[in-house]
Order: sequence, then C-alpha cells, then structure tokens
Amino acid sequence: MAKDPKIISVANSKGGVGKSVVTLLLATSLAQEKGKKVLVIDCDSQASIQEMYEQEKELYPDKTPLIEVEALSPRRVQTFMKRFGADYDVIFIDIPRMTDQKQDSATVMLLYNCDGLLIPVIGSEVDILSTQEFMAIAKEAEAFKQEMKEHLTVYGFINRRNQRKSNELAEQLLRKQGLKMFNHSIPDLKIFTTPSIFKSPLSVAEGQRRFKDFFDEFCRKFKV
Ligand SMILES: Nc1ncnc2c1ncn2[C@@H]1O[C@H](COP(=O)(O)OP(=O)(O)OP(=O)(O)O)[C@@H](O)[C@H]1O
Ligand SMILES: [Mg+2]
Repeated sequence: MAKDPKIISVANSKGGVGKSVVTLLLATSLAQEKGKKVLVIDCDSQASIQEMYEQEKELYPDKTPLIEVEALSPRRVQTFMKRFGADYDVIFIDIPRMTDQKQDSATVMLLYNCDGLLIPVIGSEVDILSTQEFMAIAKEAEAFKQEMKEHLTVYGFINRRNQRKSNELAEQLLRKQGLKMFNHSIPDLKIFTTPSIFKSPLSVAEGQRRFKDFFDEFCRKFKV
C-alpha cells in the first residue's frame, strides 16, 4: 500500500539564502542516490524552479528528469497533495521569500503541511535577524503539529560556508536560542549554483567531496 510521502521545506523568510538551490540539490540526490520518487512543489509566484525545469527539459527532450516539478499557488497545495501525494516518497515545498503580509500567511500555512523544515542560514547579521524571526514561525508550526499529535523536525544549517568568523558566530547564536543546527554545512561552490534536474551533485567528484556529508546528515536527521 502507498505510504504517506515525507513533506519537507527548505525554508526561511529571507530571500536569496539558497532555499531553491538546496531544495534541488537534495531532491536530485535523493532520487539518484536513494531511488526515491521526488516531487518539488514550486510555490514561488516567480516559479524559478518550474522555469528551470521546463528550460532544461526542452534542451534535452530525450532525457528523463530525476525529479518532477509542479508549480502551484499556496492555496492549491493541500488539494493537490490529497489527490497525488501518495505517488511520491518525498515532496519538497519551495516557498517564496516573505515580504507581503497577505501572501505570507498563505506561505506560513504551507509549513503546517510539512514533516520537516530545514532552515538555510547565511552567516551575516541581517540573515541572523531574519532567521530569528523565522524561528518564531517554525515554533508555532511545531506547536500546531504537536496539538495534532504529529511531529515537525526542524534544523538549521549554514549555507555558503566560508572562513569568515560570522559563520561560527551565527551558528553559536542560533544554537543558543534553541535552533538545532546541522554538524555539516554547504560551502560556497560554483557547482551548486546551477543544479540540474538530470544530475545529482553527488555524481561529480567535487559534490561527493563537499556535499556528501551534508546529504547523509540530512537523510539521517529527516529519516528519508
Ligand atoms: N552553496 C552555494 N554556493 C554557491 N552559490 C549558492 C549557494 N547557495 C545558493 N547560492 C546562490 O545564491 C543565489 C540565491 O539562491 P536561491 O535562489 O536558492 O535562494 P532563495 O532563498 O530560493 O531565494 P528567493 O527567496 O529569492 O527564492 C543563487 O544565485 C544561488 O545560485
Ligand atoms: Mg527560491
């Protein structure tokens, strides 16, 4: 019998922290390395993932993508998942940056559908502030899930890690404030800037070296 899919969002209210890129890196890795059936629901009205998907498919019409992508407005996600969710092992919901009050409440509701939230953090002061704001949203989602006798797994990680001290400071500060952080981070790397729906980052040596530990930690912590 079909099992419920695991629903995960790489989420932060801040824009440009790597939500979409990391979603694609994880989605393609799960499909290629673990044979999972993976869907990415693109809820960003700019539909950046959907656009990339269509463009790449057009370039290589004979190739089969590792993952599926569906662009949906936040209000349509629940109905879609009720109908088609059981076809997948893992569903990622890619949320837009939060700017507009009205649109944001629909985005926040999306998080209540999730089993896991993975929060990318860039080690700068503005990013830490917005992550702190997002932690409050994640806490509410966690409390809601608890009331429903369900569980929400929440972890943060440093994206685009470099040698700057601000990376460590961000990590320490967020940990102190109660955000569980991954032991591994994602470095700032060229190969991560153009993910492909046909190829996981782990299929190249640099990805194996720089992303494998993070990916393994993700699979362990989010039980996929
Ligand atoms: N680990 C990384 N190494 C190098 N570049 C990265 C990394 N993570 C993200 N980027 C780059 O940073 C930019 C923003 O990433 P992305 O679009 O995934 O962010 P986002 O959080 O989804 O933004 P938005 O809120 O606008 O949707 C992109 O150009 C992406 O290629
Ligand atoms: Mg995005």
